Amino acid sequence: MEKGKEIVLSGIRPTGFVHLGNYFGAIRNWVRMQTEYNCFFCIVDWHSLTTHPDTKTLKESVKRLLAELIGSGLDPDQCVLYIQSEIPEIAELYLYLNMLAYKGELEKTSTFKDKVRMQPENVNAGLLTYPVLQSADILIHRATKVPVGKDQEQHIEMTRNFAERFNYRYGPVFPASYAFNYGEDLVKIMSLDGKGKMSKSENQMNALYLADDDDMIRKKIMKAITDQGPARPGSAKPDSVEGLFTLLRVVSDPSVAEKFEQDYSQANIRYGDLKKQLAEDMVRFIAPIREKTESIQQDEKYMNLVMEQGTAKARESARATLQLVRDAMGLKYH
Ligand code: TRP
Repeated sequence: MEKGKEIVLSGIRPTGFVHLGNYFGAIRNWVRMQTEYNCFFCIVDWHSLTTHPDTKTLKESVKRLLAELIGSGLDPDQCVLYIQSEIPEIAELYLYLNMLAYKGELEKTSTFKDKVRMQPENVNAGLLTYPVLQSADILIHRATKVPVGKDQEQHIEMTRNFAERFNYRYGPVFPASYAFNYGEDLVKIMSLDGKGKMSKSENQMNALYLADDDDMIRKKIMKAITDQGPARPGSAKPDSVEGLFTLLRVVSDPSVAEKFEQDYSQANIRYGDLKKQLAEDMVRFIAPIREKTESIQQDEKYMNLVMEQGTAKARESARATLQLVRDAMGLKYH
């Protein structure tokens, strides 16, 4: 950790294969941040238990995700890359913060209300206090910058509130944490059927995964939804077509996207050609990440080394914060 650099922390849930929405919406920015800040990136397996209590597949998912993050460009020597459940200090901080979080505000949280709607049969206390656990993730390293999407901003605001309440009651320990994304809008990757953003829960044919093989990538792109084409020059694009252009813009040469933009605006576009070009550029983009991920995942020695090193570095930072917390609270009896 370099002195003087701001602390960045983000977390990702191990609930499925990484898709392009995760990659362009988060991971790509993390890769850039790791050289500019003191970065902590955490695989939040405890958080995934709030919605996915089955632990049989968890181990596989965590390891796969770790390999995918490294395959995508995170460098375990440049950032602290670790697994949440290896850091018991987070659980202790979560306990203290829970005493500062009110039932009313937790119940009002948008993500909680969404999840109650999605799983009415399992509205557990972990789901209610999800933002408190997330706050513990952030505050355990006293991070000030938290790269997250719009849907997470409310949680970061709650983190600031809990930190402020702690400081007010027990003394100044925590800084204020803010959502952070280089001041640009994050690239929003659409589902291949053009309905909403690419997500883990939808039909797997509508999302492109870093694990997809070349033929699968081609197949998914060739089946992507379009329309009959622009009725006249200057027509606006439907969401599904806009989504394909976004993909071109992120993986193809700029001149390629430009050419198809021009074709579209002149109402003279062949979606078949666009898809063929996009499919090949996508294969060129995903294949090296997939191959690197696979070779990392097979190297058990390296995987273990990365986990040990990540845990050691994260715990060192977490212990230091927890010491300040216990000192401030006066939790010392002998
Ligand atoms: N709640 C985040 C999500 O659903 C994941 C997360 C857990 C997180 N802890 C975090 C994100 C800490 C940023 C910081 O995507």
